[in-house]
Amino acid sequence: MPSTQLNLATHLVRLDSETDFAGWRDAARRLAMNEITPEDVAWQVEQDGEDRGKDLPAVLADAKLVVPRDFIERAETVICHCDPERFGFLYRLLWRLRSEPKLLSIASDPDIRKLEATEKAVHRDVHKMRAFVRFRKIGEGTDERYVAWFEPEHFIVERNAHFFVRRFTGMRWSILTPYASADWDGEQLAIGPGAGKRDAPGEDDAEALWQTYFASIFNPARLKVKAMQREMPKKYWRNLPEASLIPDLIAGADKAASAMIDRMPTTPAPHHAKVKAKHWPTPEPSDVVAPEAGNIPELCEEAKGCRRCPLWRDATQTVFGEGPENADVIFVGEQPGDQEDLAGKPFVGPAGKVFDTILDDAEIDRRKVYVTNAVKHFKFEPRGKRRIHSKPNAGEIQACRWWLDKELDLVKPNLVVALGATAAQSLLGKAVPITKMRGDVIEREDGLRVFLTIHPSFILRIRDHEDKEAEKERFLGDMRKVKQLMAA
Ligand code: URA
Repeated sequence: MPSTQLNLATHLVRLDSETDFAGWRDAARRLAMNEITPEDVAWQVEQDGEDRGKDLPAVLADAKLVVPRDFIERAETVICHCDPERFGFLYRLLWRLRSEPKLLSIASDPDIRKLEATEKAVHRDVHKMRAFVRFRKIGEGTDERYVAWFEPEHFIVERNAHFFVRRFTGMRWSILTPYASADWDGEQLAIGPGAGKRDAPGEDDAEALWQTYFASIFNPARLKVKAMQREMPKKYWRNLPEASLIPDLIAGADKAASAMIDRMPTTPAPHHAKVKAKHWPTPEPSDVVAPEAGNIPELCEEAKGCRRCPLWRDATQTVFGEGPENADVIFVGEQPGDQEDLAGKPFVGPAGKVFDTILDDAEIDRRKVYVTNAVKHFKFEPRGKRRIHSKPNAGEIQACRWWLDKELDLVKPNLVVALGATAAQSLLGKAVPITKMRGDVIEREDGLRVFLTIHPSFILRIRDHEDKEAEKERFLGDMRKVKQLMAA
């Protein structure tokens, strides 16, 4: 805060740290109850161990301050933003809420617009940290631990630390950032002071693994440099082992990408208008506001913040569907796996490889179909350093069906392929015996045709070579049927 402003204020609040929400709340309560206007307060983060709140008024015994719960939750997010004015801004909102109880729902109010933008920036930074923290191993045996260096834009280490505890429960790890560090010793989480990049280790063996993995999932035909830089801003590149590959991969991708763009369909297929006219039921729980998304990229953006079931907590990110919006067919899998969760794309791991190969053999161009999952977050059980796939339950399938229905509504496919039991359950609203009904086409009440088949990961699990090859042939047969049905 500029010193002139400090001098004009009659009350100075000193907070313990940049994320001292309890301190802010206590001070804001005292100030508001004593009718001290926002203009009369200056806020400062304590730098050198001075006492906090020396000149704060006492809480008045008979005064009452009612604040919407929603505001408190939102304020906890905003406090993590790096804007030094955020404490005063929040107090101004609190002050206004006393005489304008509906303020939070007035989207056109400049303060509310600022509140939303600030929250969004913090959420985005939290998401980036989850996606871009890379641990490096130090020590061996009982000394083994993992250390990562990360440079967040906002004060999000405390807020994010529990995510990493849940995700990497079986490892001992530290995440170092310039303003704070988080340390998990396998039993306890400690938040400590900031560190320097040199305190974190350099390259390790896992580096090469990451690079191989990244190069293998990198699809030149799907490259969007601007989107990629938006999702993985350059500032994070210097701490990502795979980032050293990006310039070369981009340079080599141009030709393949432009050839693909030339081949992309540009006008909707004629049957779309017919299907569009039909009624598409979209069950909508009352506690969620319907998004306004008018196309798949907008819907995908909205799904990034999905909290419709608890799976978002442990997953790295929402893995949304992918493919052209005028695709004739949608393939629906179960849920993203470990690699999809990291890459943010459906079917790029081992099951995706089987799927790609067999689609190719059936002469179905994956770039022209829409591929998604019944559940958009990876559900897993941590086992040591590994994350073991765990089947989504009926509630999670139902919660995520809302997104799948929106995808169907926007893409308006001619045919949907249910890959396995979870997809079938989501699309038909009930459990169906896949092995018995495989190859069947079920017409839903809304006229949409659903083709039933196995999930490609079923093939991966077959150990016997001959049985595996036979199952691949059957799946290829199913995909050939799909190809015929797509055009019908
Ligand atoms: N299995 C699925 O069902 N979906 C994916 O995206 C990957 C594996």
